[in-house]
Amino acid sequence: MSSEKYLPWIIKYRPKHVNDVVNQDEAKQKLIAWLKAWEEGKVEKKAVLLHGPAGCGKTSLVEALARTFKYQLFEMNASDSRRKADIERIAKMASQTSGLTGRKLILLDEVDGLDPHADEGGVEALLGVIKNTRNPIIMTANNPYREHLRPLREVAEVIQMKRLSEKDVVSVLEKICKAENLTCDPAALKEIAKRSEGDMRSAINDLEAAAALNKKVTVDTVKATTAYRNRVYAPWEALQKLFNATYIFQAKEATTSTDLSHDEFITWINEHIPTYYETPEEIWRAYEALSRADVYLGRIIKSQNWDLLSYALEMMGPGVAFARTAYKYKWKPFKMPERIKLLAESRRSREYREALAEILAARLLTSKAIVMSDVIPYLRVIFTQNPAYAAKIARGYRLPEELVTWLAGPRAKEVLGYVKKPKK
Ligand SMILES: Nc1ncnc2c1ncn2[C@@H]1O[C@H](COP(=O)(O)OP(=O)(O)O)[C@@H](O)[C@H]1O
Ligand SMILES: [Mg+2]
Repeated sequence: MSSEKYLPWIIKYRPKHVNDVVNQDEAKQKLIAWLKAWEEGKVEKKAVLLHGPAGCGKTSLVEALARTFKYQLFEMNASDSRRKADIERIAKMASQTSGLTGRKLILLDEVDGLDPHADEGGVEALLGVIKNTRNPIIMTANNPYREHLRPLREVAEVIQMKRLSEKDVVSVLEKICKAENLTCDPAALKEIAKRSEGDMRSAINDLEAAAALNKKVTVDTVKATTAYRNRVYAPWEALQKLFNATYIFQAKEATTSTDLSHDEFITWINEHIPTYYETPEEIWRAYEALSRADVYLGRIIKSQNWDLLSYALEMMGPGVAFARTAYKYKWKPFKMPERIKLLAESRRSREYREALAEILAARLLTSKAIVMSDVIPYLRVIFTQNPAYAAKIARGYRLPEELVTWLAGPRAKEVLGYVKKPKK
């Protein structure tokens, strides 16, 4: 494989046609019926809210739908940072009838990522778009039942997608193995499917990681590569994991299970300690642990002594989780840390993410939204775990040194070393 042609498999094997989307027959039928009603001008609700767990095929289904029924797709990821300009762009697009360019379909991806605190008026803006649209609109969400989404639920036809079964996941993995000429042990595919918990995105990424190690995918290579490749969680999912951890290792894992920088995740924890904890004692102990994590991180940045990282993670994970005085499973609504409180580091981090998305979207012929949600989290895992492979990718895309450094974090030196001196 020449690195010039490298395409992440989750992009390469995205369903092209509605029939390539496995399972989800009910959702497909409902969506197609709704789209037909639109075409005949008989639609009751101008928007659909398509929901289901991560990696069950929401974005893929909408993209496949557009391709199959010859719509031009306009996408916006609602949890991106440049939302305001984006909403205006989409609103304009939606309010215009289809012209010479053909029929339009509008995708508002991940509306549950809308942050009611940081983004007052975000939901209203989307409601306005739906009210004035002359084109079909599909919104997606993992969790459509968050309170602030209620107005969107009311104006949309709510369609559910199912969590994929192990069998579904295996069937897609088998196809990929064939296309990539891999020898895959059926037990290895089953193992990947089991670990994915129905999340096809993480399953495909796991297969790719195992295949990068060895063309022959066995249970052993899967175990070797997925041991470190935990699922990438959304910040709020990681918070839930952290605050509900019953074991130390779970709390520690939660701190490294997002694609946020440590500083950013500290900001998230900081914001939620008072949400999860009630007694002054718990709150005090949690903040105490968190501030110590912050001190360690500061020292690491100054001294570049990454051995201290383990202590920092110990404090921000188990330190915070076991500040509680009694255990009770809690699910709390999350809020995005206030922008002003975000540290300079995380602002830079967002800029890097944007810059990288820009480069990769052009090279992968896909949208920035997809790159942000699907590709970058995976690259961060590769860059921090497999420097030689990461260097191949960096060279393939001629990524600037700065972005490589950001992606690889503590292992930047190693990756850059390989970029300069490729391993034979
Ligand atoms: N039902 C499915 N059939 C085939 N491939 C799927 C399915 N669901 C997910 N995938 C694959 O998994 C990856 C992530 O899917 P995506 O549609 O982005 O999930 P979601 O938007 O629900 O989080 C894609 O690369 C896609 O190829
Ligand atoms: Mg999606």
